[in-house]
Amino acid sequence: MILLTGGNGQLGTELRHLLDEQGLEYVSTDSTNLDITNAEQTMSFITDLKPELIYHCAAYTAVDKAEDEGKELDEKVNVDGTRNVVNAAKAVDAVLVYISTDYVFDGTKKEDTYKVDDQTNPQNEYGRTKLLGEQIVQESMEKYYIIRTSWVFGQYGHNFVFTMQKLAETRDQLTVVNDQFGRPTWTRTLAEFMVFVIKEKAPYGVYHLSNDNSCSWYDFAKEILKNTDVQVLPVDSSKFPQKAIRPKYSVMDLSKAKALGFEIPTWQVALEMMLK
Ligand SMILES: NC(=O)c1ccc[n+]([C@@H]2O[C@H](COP(=O)([O-])OP(=O)(O)OC[C@H]3O[C@@H](n4cnc5c(N)ncnc54)[C@H](OP(=O)(O)O)[C@@H]3O)[C@@H](O)[C@H]2O)c1
Repeated sequence: MILLTGGNGQLGTELRHLLDEQGLEYVSTDSTNLDITNAEQTMSFITDLKPELIYHCAAYTAVDKAEDEGKELDEKVNVDGTRNVVNAAKAVDAVLVYISTDYVFDGTKKEDTYKVDDQTNPQNEYGRTKLLGEQIVQESMEKYYIIRTSWVFGQYGHNFVFTMQKLAETRDQLTVVNDQFGRPTWTRTLAEFMVFVIKEKAPYGVYHLSNDNSCSWYDFAKEILKNTDVQVLPVDSSKFPQKAIRPKYSVMDLSKAKALGFEIPTWQVALEMMLK
């Protein structure tokens, strides 16, 4: 049996669809039937179910709110919640797949990509708590996959693609930041990798997974709106002040995932497929 936390989130929903397609049995949870911040509930739910595999997709993901009014909840969900899931996973000897983020890096690299073993140095609260989650997994378990991803988009949640499309309905011109670089990730590609590592019995450890090729948010927006008349203009991120500091450059190295034989589409191809 497989257990999903965060099964109704953007990634969790994509993963459910993929598991359905593959005829794999799973139990999907969200905060209404399994609140991971509740240690007792998490332990009893998981020890009753006895999953062999846990896809831990639940997280506090409001990056800016995590800087102030959401700070406590961010810590509770991403750190305490992950610890509760890890303790329960250990109790039933389950494999754990923990999804992490490019925000564990500070983004000061200029050209070279971030390797899985590179020094972490989160610049915002969300990145700090996701990294603490990683450390709890690594210190307590052996049978784990930590998969860091970035700039996630897909059919099943709020994300940059839908935001751009929505804005384009009412505007002729959009300004988008051109000084933050990363790799967009289609939830489908990520979900496929999450299934792939289990099927292929990939070595446990830390992986980076996003779509191939990198871009700025401006490049991404231009591609999203390429079949419209909307003009996309590049702008410096100082024009869009946000509470949480984002890494300027968080292009992650994908060679470890590729070395497993997993084929990674470019973000342009992934975007085209998603929009179809
Ligand atoms: N989105 C991105 O760009 C991005 C980038 C890098 C990494 N990630 C990581 O990818 C993973 C999936 O992200 P996502 O985009 O799918 O996020 P999402 O859409 O915000 O989904 C997160 C899920 O976590 C659940 N959750 C929150 N608090 C919970 C609690 N106390 N107990 C149980 N469930 C709880 C939520 O369920 P409820 O709705 O029931 O509260 C929600 O379904 C996360 O680990 C995230 O950190 C995301």
